[in-house]
Amino acid sequence: MALKLLLAIFLSIAMLSIAHSAKLGDIVFDDKAASLKKAGVGPAVFPHGKHEDIYKCDDCHPKIFKDKRGANDVTMQKNMSGEFCGNIECHNSPKAFPLYQCKKCHTEKKK
Ligand code: HEC
Ligand code: HEC
Repeated sequence: MALKLLLAIFLSIAMLSIAHSAKLGDIVFDDKAASLKKAGVGPAVFPHGKHEDIYKCDDCHPKIFKDKRGANDVTMQKNMSGEFCGNIECHNSPKAFPLYQCKKCHTEKKK
C-alpha cells in the first residue's frame, strides 16, 4: 500500500518535470493575414525553442511579450519603434539579424 502511494507520487513528480522542461515549438504569427498578403510576405514564424536556448524566460515575459499565444498585437511599426521583436536588445541590435531581412521571420508560405 505504502509502496503504491510512493510510486504514484514519484510518477507524478517525474511527469510534472517532463512537462515543465518541454520546449515550445514554432509559434506562427498570422492574425494580420490581410496586411501580410498586401505586403507580399508570408506569416512570421517565431522559433520559441531556439530563443529558449539563448535567453531566460523573464528576458521576454512579461516585459516584451505576454506569455499567451495571440495576446501580443505585433505590427512592423511597433517592431521598428523598438517594441516586441524590434526591442533594442533583439532584432534592432547587432546581436540578431535586422528587421529589414523580412524573409528571415516571414518564413511561412504566402497565403
Ligand atoms: C525571445 C523571447 C522569448 C523567450 C526567451 C521566451 N518566450 Fe515564451 N513566448 C515568446 C513569444 C513571442 C510568444 C508568442 C506570443 C504570442 O503569440 O503573442 C511566447 C509564448 C509563450 C507561451 C504561450 C504559449 C501558448 O501556446 O499559448 C508560454 C507559456 C511561454 N511563452 C512561456 C515561456 C517560458 C516558460 C520561457 C522560458 C523557458 C519562455 N517563454 C521564453 C517569447 C519568448
Ligand atoms: C524579427 C522578425 C521580423 C522581421 C525581420 C520582419 N517582420 Fe514583419 N512581422 C513580424 C511579426 C511577428 C509580425 C506579426 C504578424 C501577425 O501577427 O500576423 C509581423 C507583421 C508584419 C506585417 C503585418 C502587420 C503590419 O505591421 O502591417 C507586415 C505587412 C510585415 N510584417 C512585413 C514585413 C516586412 C516587409 C519586413 C521586412 C522589411 C518584415 N516584416 C520584417 C516579424 C518580423
